[in-house]
Amino acid sequence: MEDIVIYSAVCLASFTLWRLVRSFFVPSPLSKVPGPPGASPVTGHLQHIFGDDAWNFHEHLLDYGGVAKVNGLMNEEQLYISDPVALNHIILKGHESFEQDTMILSMAPVIWGPAFAGLPGDHHKKQRKMLNPVFSVQHMRGLVPVLYPIAYELRDVFVKKIKSGQNVIDVFHWTSLAALEFIGRGGLGHAFDALNLYKKNEYNEYIKAAISTMTSMAPVMALLPYIGNIGPAWFRRKIVDWTPSKTIHKLRDIVDVMHSTSVGIYRRKKAALEMGEDALMSEVANGKDIMTILYAQAKLRKEVNDAREKYGGQDLDYDELMSLPYLDAICRETLRLHPPTGVVWREAVQDTVLPMRHPMKLVGSKEEVTSLPLKKGTKVIISILNANRSKEIWGEDAAEWKPERWLNPLPDSVAKAKLPGVFSNMMTFVGGGRACIGFKFAELEMKMLLFVLLESFSFSIEDGMDITWSFKVIKQPSVVGADGKPGQKSELPLRISLLPGTNF
Ligand code: HEM
Repeated sequence: MEDIVIYSAVCLASFTLWRLVRSFFVPSPLSKVPGPPGASPVTGHLQHIFGDDAWNFHEHLLDYGGVAKVNGLMNEEQLYISDPVALNHIILKGHESFEQDTMILSMAPVIWGPAFAGLPGDHHKKQRKMLNPVFSVQHMRGLVPVLYPIAYELRDVFVKKIKSGQNVIDVFHWTSLAALEFIGRGGLGHAFDALNLYKKNEYNEYIKAAISTMTSMAPVMALLPYIGNIGPAWFRRKIVDWTPSKTIHKLRDIVDVMHSTSVGIYRRKKAALEMGEDALMSEVANGKDIMTILYAQAKLRKEVNDAREKYGGQDLDYDELMSLPYLDAICRETLRLHPPTGVVWREAVQDTVLPMRHPMKLVGSKEEVTSLPLKKGTKVIISILNANRSKEIWGEDAAEWKPERWLNPLPDSVAKAKLPGVFSNMMTFVGGGRACIGFKFAELEMKMLLFVLLESFSFSIEDGMDITWSFKVIKQPSVVGADGKPGQKSELPLRISLLPGTNF
């Protein structure tokens, strides 16, 4: 067992050393691209990209224009991109030259098995074609009656808590349980019973832990393209069992619970299908400043209440819900300014030339270029965050939360930029062949929850409580402690009050 640990450490150290030595003899094609200093020899800029100062770091990268050089693991040079012309090339025009990052392609099968998002090229295309109808608008329309009960279950949880004297409630915890229930009932035809106040949901706890555990294992992940295929699966499992690392064992346990839950659902569905349609049906159908936020909440509540009245007190159907203008503006603006995923990676699978919108001045020369030659294997970071916050695209007020911008014509610069996003000119759900397949589902979830909850409650931040969001693979909220540091626990405690006139 000790041999394995020593062997892995030696591999990691040799790999780092080899990269360092190589960089002295073989000049990198990106050596003249400007970028921030301060990369560590092992983790490059990753500590800055995902660490405590991440927000400032990403903002600072805007100063380099749309393309900057940053360093990844073992100091590998990569491009950090928010330039719309370059993004368009990576995602649409020149997409055949780019693929999902090899680290993700090699990590996903080792950890999850042949999971959809981690499949390469043609396999991915085939599966995506099969899944597309499940996420169509047509399908969403039919799902609405299946999903409303979840929003009401969440409302009832809040009512029960308030009535028992608990007014400050962890909204992050409860909305993530609702999201699990949405995908469970809407996507898998399986009720997780996640909003049951008397039952702890192990599956959700494990999903939440998966993200932070994987982020903390980044250096090991870097080795997966090289070691992920060694021997058969049982052998790799033994290695994982023998490795004396609590983090690796934690990830193993997370994957085990997720796997057994998924297999359980699959077996039940299969049995129900074999028993005929009736059995299957019974399975399935069952801004920053406080004034802006309060004003937006009141304005949205008025729109929601008016719509409820207009439709005779009924739940709104899909098209009615989607047509509420202020609800739509709030969702779009929030998804633009606060994209849950700030960056995604791609990798050049052949030598290519990356065009850019603006000329770039190369380091140490007077030369300006409008395109960059990229070698096969170059990793590029798609900065969803900076593309969504670009002043050049969205205007001088790009960094402000202003739902009203969606109620007026957007500046011409938005259409001219041709950002290759699948949703509303922004990069939140990326675009092209690997765009988020569930973006309409996500939009429906958000709108439905807001519609149901705003009718009954008002939400506010507790006096004196400071909430911060950490820049993980998916952003997570936490409370700032007395020491000024973000708390370890992901949570979003909000004061929730029943509105006058509600009758529960
Ligand atoms: C606000 C909520 C969501 C955001 C911001 C989001 C964002 C994203 C992003 C950025 C990607 C691309 C990842 C990459 O290129 O490496 C992605 C992929 C994906 N998303 Fe979402 N997503 C959301 C909700 C959902 C929901 C609700 C579902 C399912 C019901 C879903 C299913 C997927 C799938 C299956 C992929 C992989 C697509 C592929 O590889 O072809 N997402 N998502």
